[in-house]
Amino acid sequence: MNPKLPKHVKKIILDKEEIHTRIKNMVENELNPDYKDKSPVIVGVLKGCYMFLAAMSEYINFKHEVDFVTVSSFGGETERSKRLKLIMDVNIDLHDRHVLICDDVHDLGKTTLFLKKHFELQKPKSIKVVVFADKKAPEHLKECQTDYKCADVENIFLLGFGLDYKENYRNLPYLAEFNFDALDNT
Ligand code: IMP
Ligand code: MG
Repeated sequence: MNPKLPKHVKKIILDKEEIHTRIKNMVENELNPDYKDKSPVIVGVLKGCYMFLAAMSEYINFKHEVDFVTVSSFGGETERSKRLKLIMDVNIDLHDRHVLICDDVHDLGKTTLFLKKHFELQKPKSIKVVVFADKKAPEHLKECQTDYKCADVENIFLLGFGLDYKENYRNLPYLAEFNFDALDNT
């Protein structure tokens, strides 16, 4: 174990420099040309989005507004079988607007599919999804692909760069693999 890493971190998957290079490239090559003159509303999915959205913002050069939603999961035996509930909605009117949903990681795609259906009720001009990392889960919902992403990652539990383990470690500047060996003595 690397003594400098927190005990719940097994290894660093993407370091800070790599993360920022990938975000810069994605924004400059894809978002900036696609959203030029479209004035989208970027909707961050709390809490996990905050590191990614802040980093993306440094490179965005089109006019845009920012809003947030909070989605919580409830019921279900496992994390993945839980149902989703919107606990905070956007304040900006999305009718006739281009909407860009910004989330930290796409796992099954349930969160973004849920939000797309919810925002469609407001009849926006378009809805797209940008995520920092896309997991290659076999159960990944076919009907909800991401439109923009910075990294493809293994189907393992991750933490850091917005992602939490029991609400901790969101502030780590890197994306890391969770250390299951540390669970015994937490
Ligand atoms: P999905 O709805 O199955 O795509 O899951 C997406 C949400 O689950 C993300 O917004 C995260 O909040 C959470 N999540 C998925 N994978 C991880 C992980 O590896 N670590 C921490 N949170 C995760
Ligand atoms: Mg989340």
